[in-house]
Amino acid sequence: MGFDFETIIERRNTNSVKWDGLEQKFGMADASDAVSMWIADMDFACAPEIAQAIQDLVAHPVYGYYNTQPELLPAICLWQKKRFGLTVEPENLVLGSGVISLYAAGLQAMTRKGDGVIIQSPVYYPFAKTIESSDRVVVENPLIEEERDGRLTYSIDFDNLRTVAAREDVTAMIFCNPHNPVGRIWTPEEQRKVAEICCQNGVFLISDEIHADLVIGNHKMVPFMKACPEHSGHAMSVTSTSKTFNVAGLHAAYANIPCAETREKIQARMTRNRSGGFGYLGAAAMIAAYTKCDYYADGLCKQLEKNANLVYDFLRERLPQVRVSDLQGTYLMWVDMTHVGVPKEKVERFLLDKAGVIFDPGAWFSPRYEGYGRMNIATNSATVLRALEKIEKAVKSL
Ligand SMILES: Cc1ncc(COP(=O)(O)O)c(C=O)c1O
Repeated sequence: MGFDFETIIERRNTNSVKWDGLEQKFGMADASDAVSMWIADMDFACAPEIAQAIQDLVAHPVYGYYNTQPELLPAICLWQKKRFGLTVEPENLVLGSGVISLYAAGLQAMTRKGDGVIIQSPVYYPFAKTIESSDRVVVENPLIEEERDGRLTYSIDFDNLRTVAAREDVTAMIFCNPHNPVGRIWTPEEQRKVAEICCQNGVFLISDEIHADLVIGNHKMVPFMKACPEHSGHAMSVTSTSKTFNVAGLHAAYANIPCAETREKIQARMTRNRSGGFGYLGAAAMIAAYTKCDYYADGLCKQLEKNANLVYDFLRERLPQVRVSDLQGTYLMWVDMTHVGVPKEKVERFLLDKAGVIFDPGAWFSPRYEGYGRMNIATNSATVLRALEKIEKAVKSL
């Protein structure tokens, strides 16, 4: 069975964060013809098996309190086993309404107010916000940027990681694995080095694996708990179906926390935060996704590879002054527009007002990345092409 990832569902006027209210959000005069490529959800319909599972639930017209479906934990364990060869013990799982609420509870349970938490910028901006709103302090270990074979590639600065992890005040790290926005899938060796440094310095490691299923080409994703089983006692991994199956609005995520003492502490914190709610519809979606929709995840990865190749080819042939990251995982490409001919602090407005294309601005991920942007390619290839043509037209009109 296959899925048609070239047919797009109209999302305007559905209260979609990605497609509605853009004028207000981005200060645009008129966004009716804009191509929206910001925020991380997809323009594809979800798998019919998921839609059916939800329809079956809502057909019963009582939406009261509920117990989580007994099929849920086995479905999660099944997925982790068949996709990654990872054995997950059902009792090690902690459920939550989102990945962020789970790692926020992890931070609050495992660190103290005022402690430092390492992140590797440029990185998904809610990491810093969650650290700060938990009264902890952001400690940066910036990624190293290089250009290889015409593409941007990123690596971990292990020397600096050793230095910051050794600081007395630093007690946790949020590791984006795969890395949003630069698209790296960290190898098992890289993960082990990070884990060793964290472990030697008593730094609790949170591995955010929300993009783990989105693997491009021949790359291979090895989850942290598989790459570093010997360090699992001082770590948690967190993921959900929201990215792979486009169900972010259904609020269901889970953490794998092998150490019982750590798990209890984090579970207690979830209860204290009142953030343990797991969407009943989200659970139904997760069960359907993990038991019936491998074909959807496989087809999606192929579509993303096709779109990424389209971006590489287009930029090489028609816009070589724009550089882009080498996409190994995620559906997010990291684009350097600092050489298009406008000052880097004006790139965001240029894209919005002259090209009519919406990216998440680079500065959201780190002030060092003004003039960059994050392009979401989880759409059909015609939309990716339309966005690139709009950018080309705007750049050539300068
Ligand atoms: C790395 C990463 N973590 C977490 C999230 C959000 O997770 P949730 O909506 O489940 O809190 C996203 C969404 O884009 C993400 O890219």
